[in-house]
Formats: sequence, structure tokens, C-alpha cells
Amino acid sequence: MVQPTREDRFSFGLWTFGWQAQDQFGGPTRSAVDTVESVHKLAEMGVWGMTFHDDDLFAFESTDAERRREIDRLKTALDDTGLVIPMITTNLFSHPVFKDGGFTSNDRSVRRFALRKVLRNIDLAAEVGAETFVMWGGREGSEYDSAKDVQAALARYRESVNLLTEYVTEKGYNIRFAIEPKPNEPRGDILLPTLGHALGFIETLDRPDLVGINPETGHEQMAGLNFTHGIAQALDAGKLFHIDLNGQRSIKFDQDLVFGHGDLQNAFSLVDLLEFGSPTGGQTYTGPRHFDYKPSRTEDSKGVWDSVSANMRMYLLLKERAAAFRADPEVQEALEAAKVAELRQPTLNEGETLNELLADRSSYEDFNPAPYFDGRGFGFVRLQQLALEHLMGAR
Ligand code: GCO
Ligand code: MN
Ligand code: MN
Ligand code: MN
Repeated sequence: MVQPTREDRFSFGLWTFGWQAQDQFGGPTRSAVDTVESVHKLAEMGVWGMTFHDDDLFAFESTDAERRREIDRLKTALDDTGLVIPMITTNLFSHPVFKDGGFTSNDRSVRRFALRKVLRNIDLAAEVGAETFVMWGGREGSEYDSAKDVQAALARYRESVNLLTEYVTEKGYNIRFAIEPKPNEPRGDILLPTLGHALGFIETLDRPDLVGINPETGHEQMAGLNFTHGIAQALDAGKLFHIDLNGQRSIKFDQDLVFGHGDLQNAFSLVDLLEFGSPTGGQTYTGPRHFDYKPSRTEDSKGVWDSVSANMRMYLLLKERAAAFRADPEVQEALEAAKVAELRQPTLNEGETLNELLADRSSYEDFNPAPYFDGRGFGFVRLQQLALEHLMGAR
């Protein structure tokens, strides 16, 4: 059952399979892809949606006519295939004008230009029916602490996002924003480096209900964080508006590997969470399963499409493995022994007051911690072994 269908709601960025594989040390190893051909190819492969930056679809300095031509070609391809555009985003990082950022450049005229570029792109999002507008501030940051007034930069970030939410509200667009955190690269340090920083920032906005997050697997892992934990917190906050799935192996440069080709164990627990919620309830994720990866520089065009397929196969295989894990009676028993479900139970009794807790001698004065030495283990290792055996297909 690893044949992707539209019902799986898989989507890919045009810049992913379209990446020509240029890096810091060498030029491209592949030629540019054609948008229309790619849309057809994706649809044939069972993909549901495609996403893009403005500059992926039409070059930065396109004339209005060139821009319109590319949009119309895309729209025809969408009509012909049924592929949808669930999300679009703005490139505020490639052109030299954005070398010190877009919304937070020290240069005010650059900030005004960046805002206009984004506002224009929001109109395009509405035109192509995208309901999520991602904001990855890759150049919003600095290399040198003395060069950036971080509090002022956050104030300008806030000013911009407030203007954007005002714009969609005034226009009546059905669009929500999703901030994508990343700790570093291309800047030495990027503002809103983790999903936790972004969640805190969102609460300071004028219309926090219109703004959520788009966490990327590798970006949290570049900061040494547990992506599944982060996603659980985003779900808890009702802020998981979108997700960028990919692979990363430890704290190093942004690898953008195929989903599951990095930390496989964490990918397993992530798919388990997204698809089935926590073992004892809680939120699941119903949005697009979006892959933001880069086909390695070693790959030719066949390798590119093989890697597109690999992302979806990894997700579906992990979903299958997670379902088997959940259904295994021995796992159920191990979960029970590990008291995983007990955590759902509030710590105070129903209606119990703080004073009643203070008066409850059994909770403190008469509580006996001694049996926890040489006893009362939780059996988490056994549970983990069962999870890994399911992951490996050994059960
Ligand atoms: C990265 C980022 C970018 C953004 C994309 C959306 O790998 O550093 O993920 O790819 O997701 O630009 O704006
Ligand atoms: Mn990345
Ligand atoms: Mn991303
Ligand atoms: Mn990316």
C-alpha cells in the first residue's frame, strides 16, 4: 500500500525537484525544469499539490507580461491535471537587495520594497487558491551582534506581519500565514530560530489567529531539537498551519534530505503523531503533507523523480509501520505498564482545591518515595524496542 494517491494530500515545492543543485562550492549539475511538464509529472505520480515562491515561477525582474504568461501556463496545467496550489511563499532571500533581510533589513527602502513584493504575492496566492502563505525569513538575521538591533528588528517583523494580516482581512482573502523558523543558514543567526521562538512572537501580533507556523524537520534538528516534540507543542497551541517534511542527520548545515533519510526514528514518531495523534488522544494534523527537500547534487533527472517518489514512499511506509505498532497488543500492554495513559489524568482530583492538596497528607507527609529505588521502573526501554522492531518490520 505504498502507492501515493491524491487522498494522501502530498505536496512538493517547485524549488525542490526544480533545484538545479548549485551550492557554495560549485555550479548547477542539472538543467532547469519546465513548470507545466512538472505539474503533469507530479499528477501522474499521485501528488496532490504543488507550492512555489514567486521567483520560482517567474524571474525576479520579469515584466508584467512575462509574469502573467507563467501564471497562466501554470493555471492551465492545474486545470488539465487537477493538481492544486495549497501554499505559496515569497522569495525575500535570493536577490542581492535582500542581503541584510527583507522585513528587517537595516535599510528602510528595502523593507518597503519587501513588503510590496509580498503584498503582490498575496494577491497571487488568492488568485491560485492558496490558503496558506508561508514566510521563511532566511535573510532576517545577522552575522555580527553589533550590526543588528534585534529588538528593533522584531518590532519591524511585527509591523510587517501586522500589515499583511490587515491586508488579507481587508481584502476578504481566505489566507492564513505560517512562519517557518530556522536557526541559521544563510545568515549566521536567523531571527525566530526555532518554532518555540515563533510561537512566542505570534502572541505579540495584532491578529494572532491568522498566524501559525510551518516547522521544517531539518531546521529544528539543526538546533539539536526533537522535531516530534516541537510538532506536538505546535498542535497543542493550535498553530500547526503547515509542515515542511525532510531529512537531516544531526547538527550541521541544512541537508534537506528526503523525508526519513535523516533521523528515521524521529520520522517514525512524527508520522505516528501526525496520523494517529498521541497514544491517548490529542490533536492530529489534517493539513498538507508538504515535502521541502533537495534532490542531492549527484542526481540526474531520473534521480530527481526517484527522490520525489522516495519522500512519499517513506511517509506511507512509516504510516503503515506506525499503524502496526499501535495495533500490537504487546505494545498496548507496554504502554499501559509505562503509564503513558496516566499522564492524561489531571494531577488534582475533580473539584479538588489547592488547599485540599495542601491538606492531603498522603500526597506529601505520608508519601513514601523509597519503593522508587530498586523498583517501580517504567519499562520505557522495552516500549522503545517494540517501536523499533515495528519500524524495522521485524514484527
Ligand atoms: C530552507 C527553507 C526554505 C523555505 C522555503 C519557503 O531549506 O532553508 O526550508 O526552503 O522552506 O524557501 O520559503
Ligand atoms: Mn531546509
Ligand atoms: Mn522549508
Ligand atoms: Mn528548504
